[in-house]
Amino acid sequence: KNIALVAGGYSGEYVISVQSAVTIEKNLDSSKYAIYKIIITREGWHYTAADGSILDIDKNDFSLTVSGNKIKFDAVFIGIHGTPGEDGRLQGYFEMLGIPYTSCGMVTSALTFNKSFCNKVVAALNVVNVSKSEHIFRDQPYDTTAILQQLRLPVFVKPAEGGSSIGMSKVKTAEELQPAIEKAFKEDSQVLIEEFIKGRELTIGMYRANGTLTQLPITEIVSSKEFFDYEAKYTPGITNEITPAPISEELANLIRKTAAALYDKLNCKGIARADFICEEGTGKLFFLEINTMPGQSENSLVPQQVRAAGKTLQEFYGTLLEECMK
Ligand code: DAL
Ligand code: MG
Repeated sequence: KNIALVAGGYSGEYVISVQSAVTIEKNLDSSKYAIYKIIITREGWHYTAADGSILDIDKNDFSLTVSGNKIKFDAVFIGIHGTPGEDGRLQGYFEMLGIPYTSCGMVTSALTFNKSFCNKVVAALNVVNVSKSEHIFRDQPYDTTAILQQLRLPVFVKPAEGGSSIGMSKVKTAEELQPAIEKAFKEDSQVLIEEFIKGRELTIGMYRANGTLTQLPITEIVSSKEFFDYEAKYTPGITNEITPAPISEELANLIRKTAAALYDKLNCKGIARADFICEEGTGKLFFLEINTMPGQSENSLVPQQVRAAGKTLQEFYGTLLEECMK
């Protein structure tokens, strides 16, 4: 079968996406699949052939012509974090072309990629606590004084549509709010300002295949930095990621049950990773976000969880690919 592995993308997560694609390509069974890695950037959608020549994808049907042979793909393994691979754009495109792909559909991808809109929908599902937040838009007036009357400090300021903590700040004083908003607006035209919840950060990967939802072991993220920022996410040694998380069975069950409800009620497909905070003192579980294109670099959370579950990455990626072609 011909499989396109798409990587890159238009956002600051390009580099992470390329690392994810290295892991995915290495672990897809090359005896079963002919894998074509396609790098998607604003400059073009390219495949680098064995002889080093750079070939353009025909965007009319997402095909490739290699040495005069037109190659059409049986499925696409999407490995792009951020736009256009995580936010529904490519999903919509592949749906229009009728090419199966390994991720949530267009609407779920678009919704979950926007942290502000997703918070509102998740709050309405009544399956988990959602911290109080405000959603502001670059082209609409906003009032930081009014925001600080609604929310108690500290707050997190995040580009609503982003990832890997790019453009994100933790704000502890009123004076820091405006500069943090400006920083986030450099990344996106929408910004989420949400109350910080102090507690333990816990995350769980899961995927549905053959009608069964498989939940991977839970990871606890213990960061020595102020929060799990870009550096903490990608510099080995700064963060201690413990899989399986050293938590009570009761808390683990609550996380599994909540994550499964989110996966189903948000109509997820393929892999999704749900991130939570268990609040210190109250033990309440708060929703952080659901990632429909979680990192797959060798040390990323989901590959760690797959290994901790006693599975190989080859089985895991093979399962995701086969499931999308059903
Ligand atoms: N956005 C990064 C890749 C993640 O969620 O793992
Ligand atoms: Mg994310």
